[in-house]
Amino acid sequence: MDLYLDTANVDEIREIVQWGVLDGVTTNPSLMAKEKGDYKKLLKEICDIVKGPVSGEVLSLNADEMVREARDLSQISEYIVIKIPCTVDGLKATKVLAREGIKVNMTLVFSPNQALLAAKSGAAYVSPFVGRLDDIGNPGIEIVNDILTIYRNYNFKTKIIFASVRHPEHVRQAALLGVDICTIPYKVFIQLIKHSLTDVGIARFLEDWKKKID
Ligand code: G3P
Repeated sequence: MDLYLDTANVDEIREIVQWGVLDGVTTNPSLMAKEKGDYKKLLKEICDIVKGPVSGEVLSLNADEMVREARDLSQISEYIVIKIPCTVDGLKATKVLAREGIKVNMTLVFSPNQALLAAKSGAAYVSPFVGRLDDIGNPGIEIVNDILTIYRNYNFKTKIIFASVRHPEHVRQAALLGVDICTIPYKVFIQLIKHSLTDVGIARFLEDWKKKID
């Protein structure tokens, strides 16, 4: 499973890149709005750090405008993937962009049928928002499981990004399901490496070493 950071913060991205486990980054307008500076410059900086797929989202809602924005964003870097919301206009735009070889990450996906349409329109990635489904009492993991089955049934090549991750348990569930990618907020990412028994074990080894008999 590829691991992405769900952030637009370059300090967070630089830190996890150093761990040697980061495959890509996903942003959205809410995450970009938290950072200073120009939208395109920030995406370029993120691409240069990650050197892997970086999703940047369009702000338009109209298909023609989405296509125009996507073409513009795709000039930023070879690593740019265009996030397009799962709407009728989003499908129309995705069809055009896919034909041009521009990779689309269809976002704000909350049902298996939306994911089916995303794949048929030519999206390279689909992002079911698991945490937001959980928030309304609709188990997100069941939706992801259905999407996996549908894509396997028809051999769709669209990659599934397990998104809207809230806690490490979501990452475990994503890996057990066998999705292609899990995109993880920084605060959850740093929780993945931590275990109290690891800390206790290190402390005990060092204590014991101090008692070494010469
Ligand atoms: O990648 C999807 C993500 O940005 C949405 O997460 O936490 O706002 O539901 P969240």
